[in-house]
Amino acid sequence: MTGIDDPRFRRAVRRLEVPQMGTEVVAPLLGQLVGLLRPRHVLEVGMGYTTPFLAAALARLRQRVGPESAGLARKSRPYLAGGAELDEDWLHADPPLLDPAFYLRPYDPRLVAVDNLSIAGSSAAQVCQLLDELGLADLVTVVNADLRDSIGQLPPGFTPIDFAWVDAWECLYFFDHFWELIDPAGGVVVMHYLMTYPEGEAILDYFRKVQRANPGELEVISLLEPHKLTQNSLTMLRRTAAGPRPAHALPGGRLRYGEPLRTAAAAQADTQT
Ligand SMILES: C[S@@+](CC[C@H](N)C(=O)[O-])C[C@H]1O[C@@H](n2cnc3c(N)ncnc32)[C@H](O)[C@@H]1O
Repeated sequence: MTGIDDPRFRRAVRRLEVPQMGTEVVAPLLGQLVGLLRPRHVLEVGMGYTTPFLAAALARLRQRVGPESAGLARKSRPYLAGGAELDEDWLHADPPLLDPAFYLRPYDPRLVAVDNLSIAGSSAAQVCQLLDELGLADLVTVVNADLRDSIGQLPPGFTPIDFAWVDAWECLYFFDHFWELIDPAGGVVVMHYLMTYPEGEAILDYFRKVQRANPGELEVISLLEPHKLTQNSLTMLRRTAAGPRPAHALPGGRLRYGEPLRTAAAAQADTQT
C-alpha cells in the first residue's frame, strides 16, 4: 500500500494533515514531482503531511525501477548480440522510451527528514509512527535537529541532493548553506510560501540577484495559489551549474542511435546479468 493516489493511503495520511500548514495540494504535488524527477537523495526540512507523500513516491519508484531495468536489458540484448543498430522499434518496444544511462546505477532512494519539533501545531511528531504503519520507515532517516545543526547529521553518501523540500521558515539559511550540496546537474529545491509577504519577497529578490550574478547557475519559478491569503505559494529552484546534460536527440525529435547510446545500452544490459 504505497501509491500516493491509493484511497487507503489518502485515508491513512489524513491524520497528519494540519489545514493551517497549507500543504493539502502541495503534498500530492511533491509526490508527483518525485515520480517525475526520480531523485535518489531527497531532503525534507519541516516534516508533517508532506513526509509520507515523499516517502511513498520513492517507495513506488523503488518497486518500478528493477522491472523496468530488466525489461530494457531484455529488449536491447538482441540488438547488441546481433550487432544491429538500435532503432525506432527498439525505442518503442516495451518498456518504451527508456534511457539506459538512468539504469546504470541501482535505484536505492533515501529520504532524510529534518525537524526540530519546535512548532506545537505541527504533525511532525506523529510522522514516524505513520511511516512505520505504512511500511515506509526503511527508506527514511529522521533527523530531529535544527536545520542549522543538521548538515553534519546527514547520512554518509547522501550528497549530492537531487530534491529538497523546505517548509520551515529557513529558506534563506538553506540557500546559503545547502545550495552547494544540491546536484549541479539539475537538482531541484522546492520552497514553501515565499510570495505575498515582505521577508519572502526579499528572499525571492536575493535569488534573482544571485541568478544575475551567476549566469547558468539556477532557474527559478514561483507558483501562487490565488485562492489563499497565506501559505499560498511554491518556489522551485533548479541548479543548472553543470550545464545541459548530453542528449541523444537530433533536430525534429529524432534520436541518434549510434554511439554513445549503444555503449550505454550495452553497459545497462550488463547490469542485468
Ligand atoms: C510548516 S511546518 C511543516 C509542515 C509540513 N511540511 C506539513 O506538510 O504538514 C514546519 C515544521 O518545521 C519545523 N521547524 C521549524 N523551524 C525549524 C528549524 N530551524 N529546523 C528544523 N525544523 C524546523 C517545525 O517543527 C515544524 O514541524
